[in-house]
Amino acid sequence: MPEHTNNSAASPIAVFDSGLGGISVLREMVKLMPDEDFIYLGDSKNAPYGTKSLEAVRQLTIDNIHFLVDRYHCKAAAVACNTATSAAVRILREMHPDFPLVGVEPALKPAALARENARVLVMATPMTLREEKFRKLEHRFDSEAAIYPLPCPGLMEYVENGILSGQELAAYLHEHLDPYKDKGITGIVLGCTHYPFLREAIRNVVGDQVEIYDGGLGTARELLRRLREAGLCRNDPDHKGEVTFLNSSDDPSLLERSKDLFYLKEEVSN
Ligand code: DGL
Repeated sequence: MPEHTNNSAASPIAVFDSGLGGISVLREMVKLMPDEDFIYLGDSKNAPYGTKSLEAVRQLTIDNIHFLVDRYHCKAAAVACNTATSAAVRILREMHPDFPLVGVEPALKPAALARENARVLVMATPMTLREEKFRKLEHRFDSEAAIYPLPCPGLMEYVENGILSGQELAAYLHEHLDPYKDKGITGIVLGCTHYPFLREAIRNVVGDQVEIYDGGLGTARELLRRLREAGLCRNDPDHKGEVTFLNSSDDPSLLERSKDLFYLKEEVSN
């Protein structure tokens, strides 16, 4: 990324994920900031990130953010991926201290503080749960709540393949969630941006008594706060924001699927 900052309020905002999951965050951003333009890049060619090495994810994330910001002159960027955030956001901030950059993290705080003796299951990729960022977050709340990290390798692939329901997915979810049935779980944190698209499938397995949390809206609010702070909000009610979808894979169906997920009618967040 060159040393200049793209400080025009009319410039677009970059949103990046390892694949299509970040669209769950993008949806919240568009609802909150309908006059902004967004460029969404999914790195589906290299997905999944969550089972790769830290170094590989760090380099892919830095390269993709630099590509987006340079190529489209973006005024701000969001790493809409928990895995990529834990691997690269701190370093990106050190590289570009004046550039508005937001990441995502599992919404553990609202789940842990929702009630006395909360018992919280955190579904995320193996890398997110292994990394220091999550360890610190877990430590912040482990006196408020019982926290159960649940790595879910293979789960994001259902969303990448457009499978949001059905027997195979239900079997995966039962296999991973049923062992917690006797733990009195009060909340489930969706700690991967792909999982909000599986909210209904997860709900069908755990029932109505468990609250389900994701960080999409929180990230959108944080982006808005950073834009305001930098004086870079578009603030143009006459401009209807545009969303451009890009994908590193040459499979054209991924762009179609990106739009399907973006316009999906079902409620994917609380
Ligand atoms: N969407 C990504 C996240 O939020 C992870 C998916 C992957 O493993 O690439 O962690």
